Amino acid sequence: MKHLIDIKDLSTQEIEDLIKVAQDIIKNKEKYSEKCKGKKLATLFYEPSTRTRLSFEAAMLELGGNVLGFSSAQTSSAAKGESISDTIKVIGGYADIIVIRHPKEGSALVASMKSDVPIINAGDGGHNHPTQTLTDLITIQMEKHRLSNLNIGICGDLKFGRTVHSLITAMSRYKNIKFYLISPKELKIPDYIKTNILEKNNIPYIETKDIEEYLGDLDILYMTRVQKERFFNEDDYIRLKDYYILNKEKLKKAKEDLCIMHPLPRVNEISTDVDEDKRAAYFKQAKYGKYIRMALILKLLEIE
Ligand code: NCD
Repeated sequence: MKHLIDIKDLSTQEIEDLIKVAQDIIKNKEKYSEKCKGKKLATLFYEPSTRTRLSFEAAMLELGGNVLGFSSAQTSSAAKGESISDTIKVIGGYADIIVIRHPKEGSALVASMKSDVPIINAGDGGHNHPTQTLTDLITIQMEKHRLSNLNIGICGDLKFGRTVHSLITAMSRYKNIKFYLISPKELKIPDYIKTNILEKNNIPYIETKDIEEYLGDLDILYMTRVQKERFFNEDDYIRLKDYYILNKEKLKKAKEDLCIMHPLPRVNEISTDVDEDKRAAYFKQAKYGKYIRMALILKLLEIE
């Protein structure tokens, strides 16, 4: 049985196949409308979510399946002290596949070790978020028509941003990728990503505080929210939260075919005047997320 805990669980070929299936779903929706008939997907969300949980639920419903779950730890037995392992064992008897989001790093991995059904990690603390990365990859493929030969700027909270960690891990397997890691010094990319991913794979990267310095070189600019919930100290969050605000004026320096991405939710890091710009891809990105999750559900349930 296969789980998706880390983007590394998927080979490059498997990622390519998922993108192809998702593209086919976009074109031929009816063909897929009963593929998961009689199947149930459980969403166990111990942390807030809008897109990830609802796109998984919409994905299962569009495949003809059903959904069940909870959307906060307070309404589940976690509030009474139940362990993830016990919850997973029980839910495995109610559902065919489980999506879990939890504030603790490693929680999805623990869940997968106890589970009789496939587990999908929908975010484990500040660690990983592989289905956001699949969403990001299909977006890059649809918008740039390639996953190689890209200058990728990633801006904001590179320390706690789990989508950033999974995205760098995924992109490091493609040819001729260069990263521009843009953050204040307090929110720099963790050392383990630098050593185990970037340096190990000889991926060139530049670290900078200045969003405008290399803006003209970028093919992709991936903006992120400062992860308030992972700060120990409220004052630090307040000081750093508006460090970057991308707006129309700054974008004058960028390439005509730049692709601006954001996993969302956005707070202040992209001004709404950018939304009308043809380079803004973040709302499309959220839409692609449903289709790639449909493809993933089919794969993990081994449905042709
Ligand atoms: C991201 C997350 O939860 O890590 N959101 C998402 O799933 N689209 C990004 C964020 O919360 O900032």
